[in-house]
Amino acid sequence: MKSSEQIRKIIDEAFAWLETAHGVSARVFSLYGEALELIAENAGLSLYEEFCSYLNGQRRYENRILNNLYRLFSVGELDIYVYYTDSEHRLRAVVSPRSAYPLAEELNFTSNTAPTLSVLNMSYELQPSHDNGLGLVLTLDDGSFVIYDGGFLESDADRILNFLTQRNTRTDGICITAWIITHGHEDHYGAFVWFLKKYHDLVKVKYFLLNPVNHCGEGKDYLATVSELIDLYYADATKLIPYTGMKFQFQNVRIEVLFTHQDILPLPVTCFNDASTITKITSPDGTTLLVTGDIQTRSRSSLLQNNMREYMKSDILQVPHHGDSGGTPDLYDLIDPHTVIYSTSNDKYGRIRGEDWALAPNDFLLKKMQVKRVILADDGIKDISLTQKTFSD
Ligand SMILES: [Fe+2]
Repeated sequence: MKSSEQIRKIIDEAFAWLETAHGVSARVFSLYGEALELIAENAGLSLYEEFCSYLNGQRRYENRILNNLYRLFSVGELDIYVYYTDSEHRLRAVVSPRSAYPLAEELNFTSNTAPTLSVLNMSYELQPSHDNGLGLVLTLDDGSFVIYDGGFLESDADRILNFLTQRNTRTDGICITAWIITHGHEDHYGAFVWFLKKYHDLVKVKYFLLNPVNHCGEGKDYLATVSELIDLYYADATKLIPYTGMKFQFQNVRIEVLFTHQDILPLPVTCFNDASTITKITSPDGTTLLVTGDIQTRSRSSLLQNNMREYMKSDILQVPHHGDSGGTPDLYDLIDPHTVIYSTSNDKYGRIRGEDWALAPNDFLLKKMQVKRVILADDGIKDISLTQKTFSD
């Protein structure tokens, strides 16, 4: 039986188990590729436990964030990722072909060395109407890198290669342990596409993490371009779709997923920025960095806030959507960062600070919270050591 038929069979049986045997209302949604997501409403923890037992799979991973539970099972050649969100009383099960997720239930850092976070500047002079773009790089203790997005233009891709070349300390060449794409807007994956086309033979990549949307028309080009290029140039790399609750261990960083667009269902993804994957990075001394991508609408910020509450607390925050919109005072109150990164230009930052529509949340963040440092993606690359539980110059 083909994997798509196996997935459909498991989903149909689980649907019947929920609706017929337990009287629980359920719906099925088609995700990217062959994956399907089953959502059961008005579920409780006991139903979650019963459902996990019913699956009768091999448990490969478990996580708990507050009262939300996450488990990954293998059934044959398939993955079933089952999670329960307490604030919504929803059970979700994503069934997909098996992937080699490097998940870690316990912290097991390879050293106590603090990773360095580098905020890449963008080529704003070449994009007068696009003062956006995100590029963050973590340098790990084995000399390899984790990259978030990378920017918009070919010149941003060139900057990434220059950065990697200058910072590389490995004798076996430049190695990117993981390249994470937050979402499919061009100021986030444009440079990635240029980089793959121009420099794939100069740089090794182990993992690509990206979570495409197939039910929001805007994302179609992104799906085609990015996935095809990865398959073309990095056939040996592992391409993974991250889901909320997954904790990845890469050398001396832990990267935990706090939000993906699957969490929005059964509502539609009406704003493509809301398809951003949100992750929290933890260093060996416990310093935390929250990467929010471009999450844009207040309703999604509220969803994140309701699901994660005090777990949002982070020392360093990449401000959502370049500071344009999306973050709310309530969300910032939970995150309470001492350092904020606005991935925009000096000019745009000045305008954001003066515009009515962006003033309230940014004012709250910068004036009401205890923010000690603002970093912009302009005037060169900025380095921050991730060993700053409290702020120091
Ligand atoms: Fe953006």
